[in-house]
Amino acid sequence: MEVAQRLKSIPPYVFAEIDKKRQAAVARGVDVINLGIGDPDQPTPPHIVEAMQKAVADPANHRYPPFGGTKEYKAAAAEWMAKRFRVSIDPDSEITSLIGSKEGLHNTIMAFIDSGDVNLIPDPGYPVYRTSTILAGGDPYFMPLTPENEFLPDFKLIPGEVARKAKLMILNYPNNPTAGVADLEFFERAVAFAKKHNILLCHDLSYSEMTFDGYKAPSIFEVKGAKDVAVELHTLSKTYNMTGWRIGFAAGNSQAIKAIHSLKSNVDTDIFKAIQVAAIAAFEGPRDNIDRCNKLYAERRDLAVRRLRELGWEVTPNKATFYMWLRVPPGLTSQEFSTIMLDKAGIVVPPGNAYGPCGEGFFRVSLCASVERLAEAFDRMEKNAIGFNMAKATVKA
Ligand SMILES: Cc1ncc(COP(=O)(O)O)c(C=O)c1O
Repeated sequence: MEVAQRLKSIPPYVFAEIDKKRQAAVARGVDVINLGIGDPDQPTPPHIVEAMQKAVADPANHRYPPFGGTKEYKAAAAEWMAKRFRVSIDPDSEITSLIGSKEGLHNTIMAFIDSGDVNLIPDPGYPVYRTSTILAGGDPYFMPLTPENEFLPDFKLIPGEVARKAKLMILNYPNNPTAGVADLEFFERAVAFAKKHNILLCHDLSYSEMTFDGYKAPSIFEVKGAKDVAVELHTLSKTYNMTGWRIGFAAGNSQAIKAIHSLKSNVDTDIFKAIQVAAIAAFEGPRDNIDRCNKLYAERRDLAVRRLRELGWEVTPNKATFYMWLRVPPGLTSQEFSTIMLDKAGIVVPPGNAYGPCGEGFFRVSLCASVERLAEAFDRMEKNAIGFNMAKATVKA
């Protein structure tokens, strides 16, 4: 049996690999602290779970769901966008349901990238941007995100030849893995670039509600005329602690939505209707759980900032997401540092290069662990002399 070339052309999924290493350590009896994956540790709010429980018992929800989402689901999503961002989205022509934004990203890329087309993607970035582009036969072009450019790509640095071949650009703010944020002025420039080069702009807004210290993340549709060239992917995964439920939506340019919908209707049969009912309860319900979780993440971040500074790191507190993007100690590669963290302290942190070439020299910490577990992680680092100024010779000994 031989698998397709396209499967051989992509690296194994980063988090699956990291999880293998974590499992091996657990099997050796290590009490592993997993700061690796961005998966909220708090439960889905009870009113959403109750809506699901009721809906699952209703036989009307047991049959095939309609393609693109139920009317009620799309209307509730559009209403949520109107309330949260003051933008007007037509639920019939400008929204299609998604089985989470990972699926939405893949199918958006499949719908717009042909062999030889360029997809302009952030580097570092969520790994699917790159792998799905390769699966589509296209060429990812990395737009560097660095501390120096405040993790915002400089569109002027994209060569004309690359821009001519580009069909798609993906942006993601608040950003994974860097926790960078973007303002409307940046999105205006992105929209102008997309218009000039006739490309679809896909904004992955997975972390729209996970913000701190008074910061509020904008939607790209707050930019006038953005709907001419953009779609935005939304997910309930992080906002409502629903990563396991698999539901989201794409909103925006009606032609692009039609293309994504058309591709999807050939490869999946949408989302269990009971889950859509639960998602409506999420959109229409109170925001208090979002505020509670953000308070929790901010407390964890503050603890991490304090302890990491004591360990020698220079840290700017992140305004959004539950990620911290940090430099590895001088003299070590990202991979070496990640391995030391697991082998010496039993802590999982992904190496920055897993997110793209510009991630080399960095690692990501995810704050999906209690303050007690985080404190334990920093205690272990201190005890094992893991700090920003650790000498390579010492740690290799
Ligand atoms: C930037 C980004 N996009 C998309 C996703 C996928 O989320 P979903 O659970 O909606 O598929 C993630 C998940 O971590 C993410 O970080």
